[in-house]
Amino acid sequence: MSVHSAFKKVTTHSLQQMKKQQEKISMLTAYDYSFAKLFDESGIDVILVGDSAANVMAGHETTLPITLDQMIYHGQSVVRAVKRALVVVDLPFGSYQSNSSLALASAIRIMKETGAHAVKLEGGEEVLESINAIVKAGIPVMGHLGLTPQSIYQFGSYTVRAKDEDEANALKKNIQLLQDAGCFAVVLEKIPAALAKEVTESISIPTIGIGAGKYCDGQVLVMHDMLGINTEFKPRFLRQYLQLHEQITNAVQQYISDVKENQFPSDKESY
Ligand code: KIV
Repeated sequence: MSVHSAFKKVTTHSLQQMKKQQEKISMLTAYDYSFAKLFDESGIDVILVGDSAANVMAGHETTLPITLDQMIYHGQSVVRAVKRALVVVDLPFGSYQSNSSLALASAIRIMKETGAHAVKLEGGEEVLESINAIVKAGIPVMGHLGLTPQSIYQFGSYTVRAKDEDEANALKKNIQLLQDAGCFAVVLEKIPAALAKEVTESISIPTIGIGAGKYCDGQVLVMHDMLGINTEFKPRFLRQYLQLHEQITNAVQQYISDVKENQFPSDKESY
């Protein structure tokens, strides 16, 4: 039996045990009750209520506009569905960067009002005080390094991060700081696979990659991307497991045609 199937409920400790026993961690985003229930029943280890909800649920160009209240709404919907997976909710832009008291208050709201098991936030040294305050309050924190979408206007583009030595060295230092501060895992987004391998081997907490190669301790994808609901977003790292855009379009067009031609409902579908 794999380690993960032995867990009735996945906890932050389960993830660390999985790293030790070299069992990969599976993580997907979800933002609502129905998909969270499907993913949990399918056996996913971690569900991330990502601030990518700003993009895929609300249609914003970046993750910056989503609010703490909106993240809490998505978190509540997901938590209601989940029996086994670890649920992590993103702290949105502006809810933790300015000072550690605000960060702690935001994290406490997420934990109290959603029933989630952990929070995630982006950044290294610059948000260390916030991480310290949240961890000290007993709230598990997942870090996020590499391409951090809340800093997109600083980066200027969504290209691969930490390709040059300075940025790679900064990432190596930051991941150590996150581990020392008590983070239970770290997302590594869009960095070279060799760097992800090196830092994964250098720390005892799990790394979860997205566009960071196969040596991370786990992988995460945004559900709309992996299910093929979006057609415009096709980065190299993305594997589409379904083409739902095409299948849903066909189904809706068939429905429209059935309604127009009075083929739906039939006598059997009527009372
Ligand atoms: O918000 C999100 O979906 C994320 C993942 C891309 C890791 O942070």
